[in-house]
Amino acid sequence: MGRRPVFRAELAPVTSASRPDMFPDGVTAPYLGYGVPGSADALRHVMGHFASGVTIATALHHGIKHAMTATAVCSVSLEPPLVLVCVGKASRFHGAMNKATHWCLSLLTVNQEALARHFSNRGRDLLSQFDRVPHTPSPLSGTPLIDDALAWLECTTYGVHDGGDHTIVIGQIARASGLPSDDDPNARPPLTYYRGAYS
Ligand SMILES: Cc1cc2nc3c(=O)[nH]c(=O)nc-3n(C[C@H](O)[C@H](O)[C@H](O)COP(=O)(O)O)c2cc1C
Repeated sequence: MGRRPVFRAELAPVTSASRPDMFPDGVTAPYLGYGVPGSADALRHVMGHFASGVTIATALHHGIKHAMTATAVCSVSLEPPLVLVCVGKASRFHGAMNKATHWCLSLLTVNQEALARHFSNRGRDLLSQFDRVPHTPSPLSGTPLIDDALAWLECTTYGVHDGGDHTIVIGQIARASGLPSDDDPNARPPLTYYRGAYS
């Protein structure tokens, strides 16, 4: 997609010198713009500053293994244990997740950037997408879990909510596993996504 010049052009740099009313005493950091109307570009730019972990969401439907890289993931509730993932309505994963009885999230390590790129590549071949990806069937439904991930969850769908061009899918955790501690010889730092780049 590249840069978004329209958004950037709309944003005049604002500093404590040009708009002292906007800055509490002592704050001097310049920001790009202030109160720019909400838009897809504004959301991408601003939320790009929110560092996230990277997961692979997976679902099994009619024997076909579906998957998608997802960062719009967060914890929701402890009792019952719930997480959410936002799934683009235009993605092929959307239909599969709606129909599958269970779905999984594998939380990637820093060594697994290639997998994140692979499963976010639009139009990749559905039937062969797992051919060279080491994975293990989940305990309850046989949904693919990415080998050597930091941790994983197997969920059933608890609720589905409209979220604009995405669906907010809330999952109740049925099975979960993670490395026992940071001292584990297999422990790796997490893969993160921040301002459009993996790190
Ligand atoms: C870092 C990153 C994070 C993403 N997070 C999400 C997400 O949380 N939800 C989503 O629907 N798509 C997300 N996507 C986009 C999907 O991975 C991508 O659109 C999807 O795999 C396209 O697959 P399809 O060709 O099967 O539709 C993300 C992409 C990247 C590169």
